[in-house]
Amino acid sequence: MTGNALDAPDRLLGRAAGAASPHCDGEAQEVDEDGEPRWPYAEGEAMPGGHRAWDRLGVGLRCETWLVWSPRLCAPAVLKLARPHQADHPRAARTLRREVAALSDNPHPVLPRLYADGTTEEVPWIALEYVDGPTLADELDDAGPLAAADAALLGIQLLTGLSALHRRGLAHLDVKPDNVVLRDGRPVLIDFGSAREIGSAQPAGHPVGTLGYAPPEMEACEPITAAMDVYALGVTLREASAEAAPPSALTEAIDRLCAPEPSRRPAVAEALTILGRHVPEDIAPWPSWASEAGTGDRR
Ligand SMILES: Nc1ncnc2c1ncn2[C@@H]1O[C@H](COP(=O)(O)OP(=O)(O)OP(=O)(O)O)[C@@H](O)[C@H]1O
Ligand SMILES: [Mg+2]
Repeated sequence: MTGNALDAPDRLLGRAAGAASPHCDGEAQEVDEDGEPRWPYAEGEAMPGGHRAWDRLGVGLRCETWLVWSPRLCAPAVLKLARPHQADHPRAARTLRREVAALSDNPHPVLPRLYADGTTEEVPWIALEYVDGPTLADELDDAGPLAAADAALLGIQLLTGLSALHRRGLAHLDVKPDNVVLRDGRPVLIDFGSAREIGSAQPAGHPVGTLGYAPPEMEACEPITAAMDVYALGVTLREASAEAAPPSALTEAIDRLCAPEPSRRPAVAEALTILGRHVPEDIAPWPSWASEAGTGDRR
């Protein structure tokens, strides 16, 4: 299984780490395949927010994502920070602020916890809960498609996380197997840098999301809706259960989620009911009293 599996913590703790990072002043020596700079942190080196570098997890257009050690929490964490050449760019900080808006004070089993907000610092950054496991994309590559009931349960869990986001007026807009991490088989949705306010206008020519997962109305830059996430979730579930032979009754349910016409897609509550028909009654993502107490609702 590929992914984010942690090695023993002494891999990091055994190192003598420098007190301050020489790289926070914007000096960078490494480049990616496009010749753009990336942070050259060595394992154990100090990173923004007092974190210690452990391993680079990903390099995006504007931000890099690192597995780090948080001395404050005495635990692993994820540090997402602007790339060296993006540190001054308002869009890098904006991307990270979108993650803050989605995750701050929004506890939910399907959303990572936000540990710290450094978006106003010289090199903007955020620290998040580390989810130890493969992405759904890795898992599908390694182990093949999910059985129908497992795909339906995955969909239900992701829908509850999306619902917590929608309740705060935001749509994720980049749901896809690469942006789902599995911890003990349970999904956690990541990468909230594309999130936008539901109802907000999308500037013409600037669609958000990933080709193949974004719905047709995103191509036309129509105003942001929760239905855009339902579509991307449908495509994700189609991929997760693809090749499962023979095509199951779930296929029809998934087709409803990815209806090209947004008004024909079920709303989140209805989608939960539709997918629920494909999960055995004795299997539930959480005990019933957990959702009564509110997965994400604050009192
Ligand atoms: N909370 C997390 N726990 C575990 N791994 C994570 C977490 N957040 C991100 N990752 C890993 O880091 C990779 C990159 O993170 P993320 O998806 O947030 O950024 P990205 O796609 O590179 O950036 P962009 O914001 O440009 O889309 C993910 O594919 C995943 O493997
Ligand atoms: Mg991503």
